[in-house]
Amino acid sequence: MLLEGRRALVTGASSGIGRATALRLGEEGARVAVNYRSGRERADAEAVAARIDPTGARVCTVQADVGVEADVVRMVGECRERFGGLDLLVNNAGIESRAPTLEMSLEVWERILRTNLTGAFLCMREAGKLMAAERRGVIVNVSSVHEFIPWPGYAHYCASKGGLKLLTQTVALEWAPLGIRVLAIAPGAIATPINPGILDDPQTLRRVEAEIPLGRVGRPEEIAAVVVWAASDEAAYLTGTTLVIDGGMSTYPRFQ
Ligand code: BGC
Repeated sequence: MLLEGRRALVTGASSGIGRATALRLGEEGARVAVNYRSGRERADAEAVAARIDPTGARVCTVQADVGVEADVVRMVGECRERFGGLDLLVNNAGIESRAPTLEMSLEVWERILRTNLTGAFLCMREAGKLMAAERRGVIVNVSSVHEFIPWPGYAHYCASKGGLKLLTQTVALEWAPLGIRVLAIAPGAIATPINPGILDDPQTLRRVEAEIPLGRVGRPEEIAAVVVWAASDEAAYLTGTTLVIDGGMSTYPRFQ
């Protein structure tokens, strides 16, 4: 097992990549705090926790909207009380919506930025305090290929992910002397609930698959596998960078 006894917090862990990551961390021996945003996601988060450890000894669920400072402070405090500290934070919580820029309201812009970017910052800052005290820790920020591929209709989302890239790199520099590694992963199109438009419409699915050299969308477990490795001591020399996991999408195959 790669992460025996590590204490991990995964945000947005009730579904998609967060869920798969929490489950895989549990399989690798970690203790896992399964974050969910609101009562709507609670039952799903509890199901994830029950799969990790039906006895509840190695797992807990913790509600928090990552974009709300008081929630994040409370969530990380609960992790400290439960596990005594944190060795791993997976900043996974993320949302997206389509909004052409000419019609984008400030409210929609701020909602995306608050969860995807401010949320990551708040969780890093609070978890980072615990990690700095022990002079060890790993932070994996779940970014996207859209930290470098522009996506019309999603300027807010791209801005949040582009921001997350430099947030990751800057904090990696600040915290390397503290023994904390900070990196990002950039998934391409993955079969998760964030993508109903792609998965439910065969024509759109074919169009997206044509943009992926491997010819298919990815599975959440394929992202979780990279997170687990990046968090482990096998990746001890890895910090301040983004690992792209996209089936080759970012080679822009249509330009062949
Ligand atoms: C988005 C998906 C999209 C993928 C590739 C991800 O960041 O969440 O909706 O399919 O990027 O474009």
